[in-house]
Amino acid sequence: MSVRIFVPNDATAIACGADKVARAIEAGLAARGIVANIVRNGSRGLFWLEPLVEVETPKGRVGYGPVKPSDVESLLTAGLVHGADHPLSVGLVEEIPFLKKQTRLTFARCGIIDPLSLEEYKAHGGYKGLAKAIEIGPSATVEQVFESGLRGRGGAGFPTGIKWRTVAAAPADQRYIVCNADEGDSGTFADRLIMEADPFCLIEGMTIAGLAVGATKGFVYCRSEYPLSLQVMEKAIAIARTAGLLGKNVAGSQYDFDLEMRMGAGAYVCGEETALLDSLEGKRGVVRAKPPLPAHKGLFGKPTVINNLISLATVPVILEKGGAFYRDFGMGRSRGTMPIQLAGNIKFGGIFETAFGIPLGELVYDIGGGTASGRPVRAVQAGGPLGAYLPVHQFDTPFDYEAFAAKDALIGHGGIVVFDDTVDMAHMARFAMEFCSHESCGKCTPCRIGSTRGVETLDKIIAGNRREANLAVLTDLCQTMKLGSLCALGGFTPYPVLSALTHFPEDFGATPKLPAAAE
Ligand SMILES: Cc1cc2nc3c(=O)[nH]c(=O)nc-3n(C[C@H](O)[C@H](O)[C@H](O)COP(=O)(O)O)c2cc1C
Ligand code: SF4
Repeated sequence: MSVRIFVPNDATAIACGADKVARAIEAGLAARGIVANIVRNGSRGLFWLEPLVEVETPKGRVGYGPVKPSDVESLLTAGLVHGADHPLSVGLVEEIPFLKKQTRLTFARCGIIDPLSLEEYKAHGGYKGLAKAIEIGPSATVEQVFESGLRGRGGAGFPTGIKWRTVAAAPADQRYIVCNADEGDSGTFADRLIMEADPFCLIEGMTIAGLAVGATKGFVYCRSEYPLSLQVMEKAIAIARTAGLLGKNVAGSQYDFDLEMRMGAGAYVCGEETALLDSLEGKRGVVRAKPPLPAHKGLFGKPTVINNLISLATVPVILEKGGAFYRDFGMGRSRGTMPIQLAGNIKFGGIFETAFGIPLGELVYDIGGGTASGRPVRAVQAGGPLGAYLPVHQFDTPFDYEAFAAKDALIGHGGIVVFDDTVDMAHMARFAMEFCSHESCGKCTPCRIGSTRGVETLDKIIAGNRREANLAVLTDLCQTMKLGSLCALGGFTPYPVLSALTHFPEDFGATPKLPAAAE
């Protein structure tokens, strides 16, 4: 068998030059008369090493990164195909501490397999979850998901099992599964990585969801900025359909399920589940008042499971290994693992899947290596643009829904964006308001008007214009937005604003507080 060389084919690796590296390797091998199989895998999520070229050896997969096309000649001369030593060698990939310290359940196959090889997917545990669901039937499948303690990975952390029970119990002639792959949060890329590195995992998760609640049709709503994800998913769906894993009598069972991709048009608010449903129906994405819940009246008025992509992609491993297995990871009411996305000014950025409970500081310093700039960390923003800024003295906070909520902070979709000591927190607060005014769907006044007034007020504060009075106006406005907004876009924008003000008052020209008093 010819040697296998892996060059990732996802958007991150390609942006870092992976296509050119793959071509250079191909040409270099041909010139040397070496026969090798270049596999375009997905990224492992160790982004600072991309393009990470791997070679299969008897000891395991040896990695080299980040590889530029101009490095290829010296790599081949050194003996890349045998996993030989080279200044770019990172040794056995599985032994890289960033990867070794992880508990990869949802991302178990990412970067390992060829994303579009159904055989490899199955050889690495794929479709065992669906087989189990078919064996135990719909209601036991829902109960496995309930027992796992899985909570929605899109932001709100609502128990997935309860949502599925509600949809399964809603009387209807048609139910739907909708995958929220809008992934609008800053510093997040977990959904994209699954679609580009392990698309069958999502297809299997949605098929299990369909079987569980009696839905025969699913849609993946993918953000417009992910054209490659769309392509990979469409190919994977076609392969699954040909293999009898989508369509009538899925995998030879009595259940039917099929799914289609849909692309958004670039609005953050279309990640909000009801605006997403409007958009899927071909309307402008405007937030719907609840009730009715999408579980009762969702897509085209029918009971709908709408879940984040990671929630759905976690279902196969839950079914394969059992709800109790998954529930054994984590802390408190945060069960299982979370693919934490380390981004911003960080030395080792990427996906770090681990059980809930790891302290924030360990993620930033021990795993992430501190800032890329080498300067001291000043703050992180967790949970996307609506999440709070956490200062260094809160870095002992465990990564857990409730522990974060106790600090007025959000886990959201698991993004952590790191800032060094050059950040101006008053400008970050202004950015939060500006983002809200730009992305507001316009349905309710506190968000539509309040965010614009917020930007104006912050401009006055930054300019030193009647600072104390305007700080009072800002605090009051934030309170109104929190209490009076219809959805979390307007309702949570005050959190980054107020956390910046509370923890970094000196950036607003106010008297700094002692760290202990700022809690
Ligand atoms: C403004 C706004 C944007 C959101 N964007 C996303 C998103 O990009 N992806 C996502 O999964 N959930 C997003 N959500 C949360 C969804 O409304 C919803 O809670 C989620 O899709 C439910 O799936 P889950 O239970 O699996 O998390 C957003 C919510 C709001 C208010
Ligand atoms: S809070 Fe903003 S985004 Fe949400 S419904 Fe109101 S106007 Fe629309």
